[in-house]
Amino acid sequence: MDAGKYIRPNVHKMKGYHLGKFTCDIKLDQNENPFDLPDELKDTILAKIKAVQWGRYPDYSSAKLTDKIAYFAGVEVDEVLVGHGSNSLILSTLLASVSSGDVVVLTEPSFSLYEVFNQILSATIKTVQLDPNDFSLPLDTMCKMVASENVKMTILCSPNNPTGNAFSIEEIEKILVATSGLVLIDEAYQEFYQQNLTTLLPKYENLVILRTFSKALSMAGFRVGYLIARKELIAGIKKACVPYNTNISAQIAVDEILNHQELISDRIETIINERERLWPILKNLNSVKVYPSKANFFLVRTSDGKKAFQHFLDAGILVRDVSGYPGLKNCIRFNIGTPEENERVIDSLENLDKIL
Ligand SMILES: Cc1ncc(COP(=O)(O)O)c(C=O)c1O
Repeated sequence: MDAGKYIRPNVHKMKGYHLGKFTCDIKLDQNENPFDLPDELKDTILAKIKAVQWGRYPDYSSAKLTDKIAYFAGVEVDEVLVGHGSNSLILSTLLASVSSGDVVVLTEPSFSLYEVFNQILSATIKTVQLDPNDFSLPLDTMCKMVASENVKMTILCSPNNPTGNAFSIEEIEKILVATSGLVLIDEAYQEFYQQNLTTLLPKYENLVILRTFSKALSMAGFRVGYLIARKELIAGIKKACVPYNTNISAQIAVDEILNHQELISDRIETIINERERLWPILKNLNSVKVYPSKANFFLVRTSDGKKAFQHFLDAGILVRDVSGYPGLKNCIRFNIGTPEENERVIDSLENLDKIL
């Protein structure tokens, strides 16, 4: 059958977002938190989920959870929009703002889903290449590009996935000033960098901040993300969300984890400490170049990305092959695991030059 008869041509010819399926002992390919929740906390969450009626719809607007997240993020409740993972909120923001043919500015390399969603919407994608040496932002080029009248949205990921570097508040402010379109700053890894952009909200009406419970907060399985923006923007983007965009279990589980601030901060601190412990070891490896990171993962340039990926897999470690990304020839990415897992990664990196 030719699905092209039924599917829009731009969608039909897309590659789409793809994740390979592999078996492994140590999973470091999705920048998840390696530490699961303690059993006691899981039991509390399960008991709360059991106590509600599953045949009922969840709260339509995740009101209780939105309240709690607003407090957690230090913003007003009407400045927050909760959604089914930050993925869904990227799509809702685009749906609410970008029409077919509008220009959306992305950096390259960055999170590949931005391109996928923009292709679906038939947006015109313009890209700014990050500096090949350190992935810094060519700020003047970027500001010139976003200043163009037909730029509807600029998406910047900070810390950037998959490169790991972050952009400063000053750089972000320059972009906010330069463009008349929306600026979506994806802070999926914010907790590992701890720059707080919410202080910019009173100054810039075109700022949208995106965060998630999937990374630092160990809740990827429940799919909860949130947007922070001026209340008028939140109300507009909300109209482009699927109704009930978090489910009963997600609302309960994330509400409960927010009662355990000390657990959250301990985990973030542990991962940051591991990152700082690993960095001097990684940067001195001869066979590969490891880039500095402000997130919970490292990008590694090897002399053969495919072989390096397989070498890790043979050792039971699943990393992400990002060698197909623009500017990332022969690169792989792995997230920080438990200290034991990280030792296995170091061993594999040290052995890598034998096979390359
Ligand atoms: C930069 C970035 N944004 C968003 C996401 C998606 O997160 P979520 O699980 O909240 O949909 C990811 C996940 O890898 C990411 O790396």
